[in-house]
Amino acid sequence: MKIKTFKVERWMNDYEDEAVYNLGETCIDSLTIRELLEIGGYEPDKFMSELAETRLTYSHIFGSPEFKSGVAELYENIEPHQVLPCHGATGANAMVLETLIEPTDNMISVMPTYQQHYSIPEAIGAEVRILQLTEENDYLPDIEELKKLADENTKMITVNNPNNPTGSWIPIESMKEIAEVAKSVDAYLLCDEVYRGIAEDESYMYSVTDLYEKAISVGSMSKIFSLAGLRMGWIATRDEYALNECMERRDYNTISCGVIDDKLASIALANRDKIFARNRQILNNNRAILDKWVNETPGVHYKKPVAGTTALVYYDKNIPSYELCVRLIKEKGLLFTPGSAFEMEGAVRIGYAFDSKLLKQGLNIFAEFLAEL
Ligand SMILES: Cc1ncc(COP(=O)(O)O)c(C=O)c1O
Repeated sequence: MKIKTFKVERWMNDYEDEAVYNLGETCIDSLTIRELLEIGGYEPDKFMSELAETRLTYSHIFGSPEFKSGVAELYENIEPHQVLPCHGATGANAMVLETLIEPTDNMISVMPTYQQHYSIPEAIGAEVRILQLTEENDYLPDIEELKKLADENTKMITVNNPNNPTGSWIPIESMKEIAEVAKSVDAYLLCDEVYRGIAEDESYMYSVTDLYEKAISVGSMSKIFSLAGLRMGWIATRDEYALNECMERRDYNTISCGVIDDKLASIALANRDKIFARNRQILNNNRAILDKWVNETPGVHYKKPVAGTTALVYYDKNIPSYELCVRLIKEKGLLFTPGSAFEMEGAVRIGYAFDSKLLKQGLNIFAEFLAEL
């Protein structure tokens, strides 16, 4: 199966190691193992010496009970047996798309989004229909447009909420309408929810699985739990058929997740309130820094992100985003992600969810660079 280059991942592979100011990062300031253990109330040296006695078998093929119940608690309507652990959200998205989409189907994906959602179905041979998100519409799906795209051959609608790269968040009333459209053509609704969980106002962030029986949620430990190195993600759905089909496929491409990864993820899940409190502070603080900078800097504009860890910032210079980003990393050590990686030209994606000092420095460097251009 031939597949297009995954632009955002290729960009990061090529340039992330050169970054002095890494504003390409999308995880919230990643935790060390020691920090995680301390948050969980463990004595790190004691924990590590006990860990050394762990037998490295395949262990629980479908995830430990602690992991599955910890994930289920992130949802209102999901039971532990409805959680399928995968290798990151990347593994989960691929599992869902490769399992459910056939070459004879059509499917609808928002754009911009994580490229798996349109390039995997396209590689399968399915017809991909794009629902473009625009700044004028606050990067929210246009429901009337969606209705026009859906027909009886639509197998799946896929959205990413909160959205990478724009940081938009679909209000529950709009998501209910999206679910209604999916239901009207009996399609699955896949929602990539890797950035779900930390709302600015501490409110509960709904999941698509609260709204529709054929909804599939994908999540992971990478972003809001600050643990991308664990490579632990999951599929959560009430749809028995989809779950069973994914389980069948999983025997071929996963078998199980890592025993150590599962153990550390379970600790994080059991202590999610503490991790979320830490991360909410980072997000709110840094979002304010970014917002101030955008408002005070000539020649840039954006739609302020309301969730997630990234923003799409437009610049008023006539230079393609890829070229601009290569110059920034080569000349200034500053890593952004070109908007072109998301088919959004004239913009860069800024990841703002880590060290605020580096964020300020990086933004100032960008302002100087734009002024010099
Ligand atoms: C929307 C979205 N989905 C999935 C992923 C992959 O996450 P994971 O590290 O869990 O594989 C990313 C990573 O950037 C993402 O932004």
